[in-house]
Order: sequence, then structure tokens, then C-alpha cells
Amino acid sequence: MFITFEGGEGAGKSTQITRLAAHMRAAGDDVVVTREPGGSPGAEAVRHVILSGAAESFGPAMEAMLFAAARNDHVEQVMRPALNTGSMVLCDRYIDSSRVYQGVTGDLDTGLMRAIERAAVNGLMPDLTIILDLPAEIGLQRANARRGTGTADRFEKETIETHRKRRDAYLAIAKAEPGRCKVVPADRTVDDIAADIARLVDRLKARRAIKEKAKAGAAQ
Ligand code: TYD
Repeated sequence: MFITFEGGEGAGKSTQITRLAAHMRAAGDDVVVTREPGGSPGAEAVRHVILSGAAESFGPAMEAMLFAAARNDHVEQVMRPALNTGSMVLCDRYIDSSRVYQGVTGDLDTGLMRAIERAAVNGLMPDLTIILDLPAEIGLQRANARRGTGTADRFEKETIETHRKRRDAYLAIAKAEPGRCKVVPADRTVDDIAADIARLVDRLKARRAIKEKAKAGAAQ
């Protein structure tokens, strides 16, 4: 199973991925936790170029292609091999980050975005995408508190309007793809959010197990 976590800045993705990984490992799953941009040596090299802002002046299309290049390396070098050996893969950000940050707030053409996405993922779509949702103001406050005196990265430093647009864009994706995407309200305690996510994942795992059993039965 391939599960991705999405949301704006300060939504608590990394905390929740850690919690879900522990929950799944306790149930006996082999779990690989990874993140984008990055997750493979090639992609980590590109991560630095993007997040430092070094590519910003070349425009959002350049950045979108860099994210896609990093994604393709991560897919082929790390995630697909892990899934092929039966691991559960939990990834912090994936295609929806590009759709939202580059496609919507970078104002790129939908056709171009689709073409880049198709090339980057080469068929590897998430089975489940958890969208951690909270007001942009709260997310930014949390991200600022976490960062302390460090400087904001290329995307954190944008205006509140841009962050609001991103929240709306995530909710629009969830509405368009309700089978894959589940919105989890994130302005709550870590425990409450973790419990909701565990329930969603356990339900999907149970459904999968029933399907596999039926398939095995039909093959006999
Ligand atoms: P990161 O430091 O990993 O932070 P976060 O905790 O917010 O995930 O920064 C990744 C940044 O890159 C984040 O601001 C979102 C942005 N991003 C994109 O714009 N497009 C993408 O496809 C991905 C994966 C990330």
C-alpha cells in the first residue's frame, strides 16, 4: 500500500507520519517512511536546489520540472522497489503538492502539469492520500514557531493569500478524487488526528484483505 500525506505549511504531516508508521509496525507491517522533494540521493540533490530558491528566478515551470525529476528518481529508486517487496510506503508530500504549489499557485497550464506528472510517477499512484487541513494562519504560525530564528524556505515565505489558495486547492482535489483523498481536520490534538488516520488506514487494509481473499478464492 502506498500512502501519501499532504497539506499546507505547519499541518503536522511529519508528526502524523511517525505516528502512523508506529501504528502499522505494531500491526506487523513492514513500513518505509520517506519524503519529497527528496527520498533518494538524486532527489535530495535536487531538493537543495529548489528549496534554497536557486531555481525561483527561472520560473514555476522550471521548478515544476525539477520537482518532477526528483520525483521520478525517488519513485524508481526507492518507492517502487519497496512496494514490490511488500513494504507499506508512507510519503510526506507527492503529486498533490506539485498540483497545488506549482499548478495552482504557480499558475501553470493544466495540460503541462498533467504531462509532467504522468512522466514523473510512471503509473505509481497513491492508494490513499491523507490531506491534513487547517486554516492557513494557524499553519503558518506553527511553521514559524517550529523554525525559530531560522529563515523561511522558498515556499514558506509566500503571502497569506497564497497559502489560503493552497488550502482551497487541496480541498478541491479531495472533492474531485474522493476515493483516493481523505481530508482530516488538523486543528486538533495530535492524538485525535492520529486516531482518525489510523482508522482510515485500518479500514482500507481490511477492505484490501477481503478483496485479496476473494481473488484467491476465485483462482482456486
Ligand atoms: P519541506 O521542508 O519538506 O517542508 P514541509 O514540512 O512543508 O513538507 O519543504 C518542502 C516544500 O516544497 C514545501 O513548501 C512544499 C514544496 N513542494 C512543492 O512546491 N512542490 C512539490 O511537488 C513538493 C513535493 C513540495
